[in-house]
Amino acid sequence: MTRQIGIAIIGSGYWGINYIRVFEELAGARVVVVCDQDSNRLQEVGRRFPNVKLVDGVDGVIQDDDVEAVVICTQAKFHHALARRCIEAGKHVLVEKPITTTVDDAEDLINLASAKNTKLMVGYTFVYNAGIRKMKSFVSESLVGQVYYLYARRTNLGPIRRDVNALWDLAPHDISIFNFLLDSVPEWVSAVGVKALGNGREDVGFVSLGYPNGVVGHIHVSWADPNKVREVVVVGSDRRIVFDDLNALERVKIYEKGVTSTSDEATNYGEFQIEMRDGDIISPKVEISEPLKTQCTHFLECISNNRLPLTDGQAGKEVVQVMEAIDYSLQHNGAPVRVGLEKPQLLDNSSVIAHYSSQLSTVEQGA
Ligand SMILES: NC(=O)c1ccc[n+]([C@@H]2O[C@H](COP(=O)([O-])OP(=O)(O)OC[C@H]3O[C@@H](n4cnc5c(N)ncnc54)[C@H](O)[C@@H]3O)[C@@H](O)[C@H]2O)c1
Repeated sequence: MTRQIGIAIIGSGYWGINYIRVFEELAGARVVVVCDQDSNRLQEVGRRFPNVKLVDGVDGVIQDDDVEAVVICTQAKFHHALARRCIEAGKHVLVEKPITTTVDDAEDLINLASAKNTKLMVGYTFVYNAGIRKMKSFVSESLVGQVYYLYARRTNLGPIRRDVNALWDLAPHDISIFNFLLDSVPEWVSAVGVKALGNGREDVGFVSLGYPNGVVGHIHVSWADPNKVREVVVVGSDRRIVFDDLNALERVKIYEKGVTSTSDEATNYGEFQIEMRDGDIISPKVEISEPLKTQCTHFLECISNNRLPLTDGQAGKEVVQVMEAIDYSLQHNGAPVRVGLEKPQLLDNSSVIAHYSSQLSTVEQGA
């Protein structure tokens, strides 16, 4: 018989209810307790899942010996304190994104989980999305050729959050996707925000990210755009790949077209010859699966087989490092900020220009 891991879910709002459903459907898990401080939410959970214990505080979770692992799916500002209590009690923890709202808090959880020998995983759902994984296989197998740049758009009318701005709400998804696709983390970011809705928080954001080897990423997020878009695009020398999460029939499209500079000598004007290649546009088969279910299955496997989660605490911290740098850049009107130092630091413009031109020189050398 399959071993069933006892699960508790803290936070049964819009997203938490999906965790209850998914873990209830998985043979290797059993939802033991659901915790929410809102009695209306608990009533709703009780109606839909009558066999689950309902509690209104974290003590009811950590004192329950049947609970081996906890999912924390509350507003971001509560993630650290709740995760800390659960890890201290020896529970494995899956925290929704972003893992915490500061790098120091993320480090604290990583150290505590290591000391307590418990799993710490972050809910970067898109890393478990079959379409993003298809993209990743094309990037890893060099089928896109040299990656020139990537961009993501995540726009909609809301849903507007009261605890964080649109950048903290939405950009962590795209940063986690870019880091996963490129197997690296950005060296610098530059971000501007707009408070279009006048509620004191940025509801629109534009972020540039400088990755190693001159690869530049760009993320546009908005709560104020009536056009719902969930798109990630990678443009390379050999192919362009588009992930469109709203297109169920053709979630991924590959454009087998590209442009490269040729190995010919530069012309009199010092310009390299440019070669355009035409080709097909194909939509490869993408396995039908629910990303949240794949993510939760991975969490259970990591617990059962003592494995490191793909989106572990460190991956969570790397995204928060970028978010802290984004905040700093916003405060400095979009100035480029170095990522990954103990504290964010402004970068002089010449370093950013050098970054862009390093891409240019790699293209020229590779040609
Ligand atoms: N991975 C994804 O695609 C995805 C999608 C949506 C939301 N999220 C993340 O999920 C988390 C929750 O988002 P949501 O939209 O469900 O929010 P929500 O506001 O709908 O739900 C949060 C719930 O947490 C409860 N809560 C807050 N503090 C609590 C505490 N101390 N103890 C017990 N319960 C507490 C609230 O009462 C509420 O019911 C956020 O971190 C968000 O970023 C992820």
